[in-house]
Amino acid sequence: MRLRNKTVIITGAGSGIGKSTALLFAREGATVIVNDLQEPAGEQTVKEIRDAGGIGHFIQADVTDVQSVQAMVDKALNLVGHIDVLFNNAGISGVGAIHEIEPEQWDKVINVNIRGVFLPTKYVVPHMMERKSGSIIHMSSCIAEIGLARRASYAATKGAVLALTKSMQVDYAPYNIRVNALLPGTILTPFVENYLKTSYADPEEAKRSLKSRQLSNDLGSPEDVANAALFLASDDSKFMMGSPLYIDGGVTFGKNA
Ligand SMILES: NC(=O)c1ccc[n+]([C@@H]2O[C@H](COP(=O)([O-])OP(=O)(O)OC[C@H]3O[C@@H](n4cnc5c(N)ncnc54)[C@H](O)[C@@H]3O)[C@@H](O)[C@H]2O)c1
Repeated sequence: MRLRNKTVIITGAGSGIGKSTALLFAREGATVIVNDLQEPAGEQTVKEIRDAGGIGHFIQADVTDVQSVQAMVDKALNLVGHIDVLFNNAGISGVGAIHEIEPEQWDKVINVNIRGVFLPTKYVVPHMMERKSGSIIHMSSCIAEIGLARRASYAATKGAVLALTKSMQVDYAPYNIRVNALLPGTILTPFVENYLKTSYADPEEAKRSLKSRQLSNDLGSPEDVANAALFLASDDSKFMMGSPLYIDGGVTFGKNA
């Protein structure tokens, strides 16, 4: 029960990594505020938390919308009274080299993946500053560190989130708030399943090729990332500040050939 008495907000917790993390955090004793744009998906996560004996509440919000995010934070504070951990997980993919993507596609990825981190943080951090306590976890990606074909907009956002993590840590260290980032490799979630289906004629062949890119020769699971998020959320990581944590099957620092 490493998160006993802690309240956690997880954005994008209706699917994939956010959902697995919500279920794990609830098992570890946290009260979990499950956020998502999609109401049925978010409600389903809460149902699974409660069915397993945990405490969860769904708050629908679009992380790119000021009023929506303000209302989410107010509601969470009214429900539970304090927020100990914010996991800025919600994100979307962006496929294409610069010459292939339209300005509107670029703006959308930037908006969700960067503004969608800025806004929840902006409205949660004053509360953490007042309490002089908190852990903020940002979802970056190992793509912030390595070049990968046709991911220009996505890579730009995940690099920005990593830079933001370090800068925020300097600002908020005096308030005993830790800010760290997760850098997953390819994790088999609906996000990746959908990308495989829409980007390749043969998704199974594409999956095999993705697998061969990792030293592990396999893709990660949402639980692999949830376990890393648990470490950053809990006091076990109290000496980690402004750090990237890689969960990538060796893809960033190893070469499989
Ligand atoms: N799956 C991977 O291989 C991988 C690797 C590295 C990083 N990531 C990052 O992990 C995060 C989660 O990815 P996933 O694979 O679990 O994706 P997913 O698509 O399975 O889940 C993302 C969730 O975010 C929600 N969401 C999207 N836009 C939103 C918005 N504006 N407001 C609120 N919720 C919104 C979606 O409804 C969805 O439920 C993303 O930031 C992604 O970039 C994923």
